[in-house]
Amino acid sequence: MNINLTTTSNSDLKVEFIQNSELKKYSQYKTLKKTGFSAEQDSICFLHESSLLVCGIENSDADNARSVISSAIKAIKSSNYKSVSINVNEENIQAIVEGIILGGYEFNNYKSNPKKTKLKNISLVCSDILKLQTAFEEAIIIAEATAYTRDIVNMTPEDLNPPSFADLAKKLAKENSLECTILGEKALAKEKMGSMLAVGRASRHDSKLIHLAYKPKNAKKIISLVGKGLTYDSGGLSLKPAASMVTMKMDKAGGCAVLGMMKAVSELKLDVEVHMFIGAVENMIGGDAYKPDDVLVSRNGKTIEVRNTDAEGRLVLADVLDYAQDKVKADYLFDFATLTGACMVAVGQYTTGIMGHSNKLKHNFYQSANNSGELVASLPFNKHLKKQLKSGIADLSNMSSKPYGGAITAGLFLDNFIKEENKDKWLHFDIAGSAYTETPWDCNVYGGTGAGVRVVSDFLKGIK
Ligand code: BES
Ligand code: ZN
Ligand code: ZN
Repeated sequence: MNINLTTTSNSDLKVEFIQNSELKKYSQYKTLKKTGFSAEQDSICFLHESSLLVCGIENSDADNARSVISSAIKAIKSSNYKSVSINVNEENIQAIVEGIILGGYEFNNYKSNPKKTKLKNISLVCSDILKLQTAFEEAIIIAEATAYTRDIVNMTPEDLNPPSFADLAKKLAKENSLECTILGEKALAKEKMGSMLAVGRASRHDSKLIHLAYKPKNAKKIISLVGKGLTYDSGGLSLKPAASMVTMKMDKAGGCAVLGMMKAVSELKLDVEVHMFIGAVENMIGGDAYKPDDVLVSRNGKTIEVRNTDAEGRLVLADVLDYAQDKVKADYLFDFATLTGACMVAVGQYTTGIMGHSNKLKHNFYQSANNSGELVASLPFNKHLKKQLKSGIADLSNMSSKPYGGAITAGLFLDNFIKEENKDKWLHFDIAGSAYTETPWDCNVYGGTGAGVRVVSDFLKGIK
């Protein structure tokens, strides 16, 4: 499918937006009335005789355009139209590109006979190409990086395991001229990463720490991105119930998101140095598995009592965050993780939970979320919740002693591994709800959503 920016529309089908308040003035009102179409947000109506697809929007906000174009593109892809044109402007071009690429996204790698679409050409029609060209090109890069993240999240745990995750990263590094370092279990043991190593011990796959770096000349800032890459989370000996285990291939979504971010920044050619660290591990059961009651020694020397082997993400991130801070003196340190079911309880499944000490940094991300169409909400730390991580035998327990505030206590656990000088540079993103969906919403379809890629790309674009 080819998307181009043009001043002339010459296509089989034209897409038009309409609000309910304008319906009566619309040239096709009489025909539309017969169909019962009332221009409700996300509703669409084909007027085949006029070669039109009419799309209902609540108002002209970009978010509404993204959402309805996502519905429209699915319908067009299953029709027989070969080319379509859509009018765009400065305000909505990014959202429309996202609606087309992400709303029209399909993952067919495991289908033996996927349906083929006839749609070949999408023309985005504007009056001044030069004015929109950059926004158009950037939107394509970011949407495609998001789709790349989805592709990896959607891979099965058999196909995407820690070593094959490392191979994918190597491939991206080669294609996009990034530096690449991979640490296997021997190297992790040398680094004394006892916490991360324990989680992967019962897996038949070697755990991997994947480090990629994008280093342009004249970089204005240095950013470290850390991702939880649990290629499968069975829960370990604190085994998950059968129903909760389904979809746990998505526990690598934080790692997939940071890989997608590397693709985006290197293709946008941003003037920022970006490092990515993924802790790629599989949490399994077996005679060799780590156990509730074990005490682990993490890379920074803190000891951790394991009270639940299903709270494994924080054990991996503890060591990877410590390693990342030793390797790179960054201006910002962000981690992305499908860390807690509690985050979904707190903010719903559409929203990413943001935690950290810097209100300023959190505010920057509210702005980037608004610009990019992702949803974020801040979950506040406090000293009372911090006490719930005390252990009777070690420095720290991997599970809170009380059942409430689980997303925040997980964030506070990670805070133990953030060096004093980096406290205000760090943010933790819990994407447990936002990274994966089994029901479509906005421009998200079944499977991985690519959560994190758009919001971080917007933040990085804004660095001066
Ligand atoms: N990977 C899960 C969190 C998760 C749950 C992500 C549902 C996406 C959807 C994580 O490793 C986990 O199991 N967390 C436990 C923590 C608890 C044992 C303290 C949880 O959320 O129940
Ligand atoms: Zn778990
Ligand atoms: Zn997990």
